[in-house]
This record gives sequence, structure tokens and C-alpha cells, in this order.
Amino acid sequence: MNEKQLAGEKAAEFIENKTVVGLGTGSTVYFTIKKLSERVSEGLEIKAVSTSTSTTQLANSLGIPLISMNEVERIDLTIDGADEIDAHFNGIKGGGGALLFEKIVANASDQIIWVVDSSKMVQQLGGFPLPIEVVPFGYQHVLAWLRKEGLNPILRIKGNKPFMTDSHHFIIDLHMKRIEKPNQLENFLNGMTGIVEHGLFLNMVDTVIIGNEDSAEVLNLSEGNKLDCRQ
Ligand code: 5RP
Repeated sequence: MNEKQLAGEKAAEFIENKTVVGLGTGSTVYFTIKKLSERVSEGLEIKAVSTSTSTTQLANSLGIPLISMNEVERIDLTIDGADEIDAHFNGIKGGGGALLFEKIVANASDQIIWVVDSSKMVQQLGGFPLPIEVVPFGYQHVLAWLRKEGLNPILRIKGNKPFMTDSHHFIIDLHMKRIEKPNQLENFLNGMTGIVEHGLFLNMVDTVIIGNEDSAEVLNLSEGNKLDCRQ
């Protein structure tokens, strides 16, 4: 079994009966959703909120009952993937372009579990380009502004057109290599007109499940679990 599958399937064990579950997006949480569908067919009663068109399609095809974000007050548990996680469980998300809905769902969640393969654990964020979701109107100005700040922005392209999110926004990836001060960068990006959301998810997650060769390791930040991070 591969690491993504080990981590993704393990997370499905944390879903309790009669709860509202946030379903993230990506190739790791795919395995969570598949496992969850088995538990649903065995009688588990949950309602799920999806973070993307692709997750909605997958959940529908597997018979997982979905509910709209506007119909729930809180989400009990959200399970999602991540592109990078540091030792403080801060992360970069948005490799799949679903960061806006993922962050809205995360903000409404009482608990969040990230599921990743071992390559996602890093000493310092930034090796993975940081995704920024921007409105198409005037995006060239945002690009120029980010360039002037030395953040190495590159517009994400799919085919020969700008990549388009589920909300019909564009994605700009910041190729920074190292993010020295994530909180400072977050404040800066939060204050920039034209940016809808960014992929820095700071201080949001307490539990990470890592696929490690042949097992899944469950780590809790509040319990002081040590992380084995890639250099
Ligand atoms: C999508 C995401 C994904 O969770 C992230 O890219 C990880 O994906 P994968 O599990 O396929 O590696 O943030 O916007």
C-alpha cells in the first residue's frame, strides 16, 4: 500500500457517527473518501461538506451524503491533504487549486486532520510554491506587485490558458524556496487587494497523519509528538 493510501484510510477511522465531516481535496484524501464510503454503506450516519467540484463528484459517485456549506453551522471534523507541513503543523495548501473552499471549511471546523505522505514534512515552508488565489480583473497588477516584493510569482497555466478555480479565479504561485516569516507573509497577503485567499494555513491543525512506508503515524501537536522532518 502506498503512503498516501495508508494515511488517507487511517483518517477515516476518526469519523464518528452522526457528525458533519469536511472533505478536502486531492489524491491522499481520495483514500479517506473511499474508506468513508465503505463505512457509510455499513451504516455510519454522517453528512459531508465538500471543498471542490472534484470531491463533490467523487462523494456523489460513492453514495456519501453531501450537505451545502450554508446549511451547516459547524463542521465536527475536516480531513484534508497538504502540500507541505512544518514542525509546528503550519502548512501550505492549494496545489490542487481548492484552497479557498478548503480554508472556508477549515475555519468552520472544530477539528482538522491533515493526511500526507512522508515527503510533505519539511523543516521550513516554501520549497513548494505558495498558491495565491486572485480575481482575474487586474491580476497583472497583482503579479507586478508581488514581483516587486521579490516573491517570484508565476501565473498558473493549464493547457494554454490560466488555471481557473471552482470560483472562477486565477492562481499565482509564489516560488520563494524558503518562507522565513510565515506570519509576516500572511499579514502582507491578507492586506493585498485582488488576492482572494492564499495557501498558508497557520495554527489551524493539531493532528497530522503521515504515511510511512508500511504504516500510518498519527501525530498530535498538543501532545508534543515529535516530527521527523525532511531537511
Ligand atoms: C488542494 C490541496 C491538496 O490538499 C494538496 O494539494 C495535497 O494534495 P495531494 O494529497 O494530492 O498531494 O491543497 O487544493
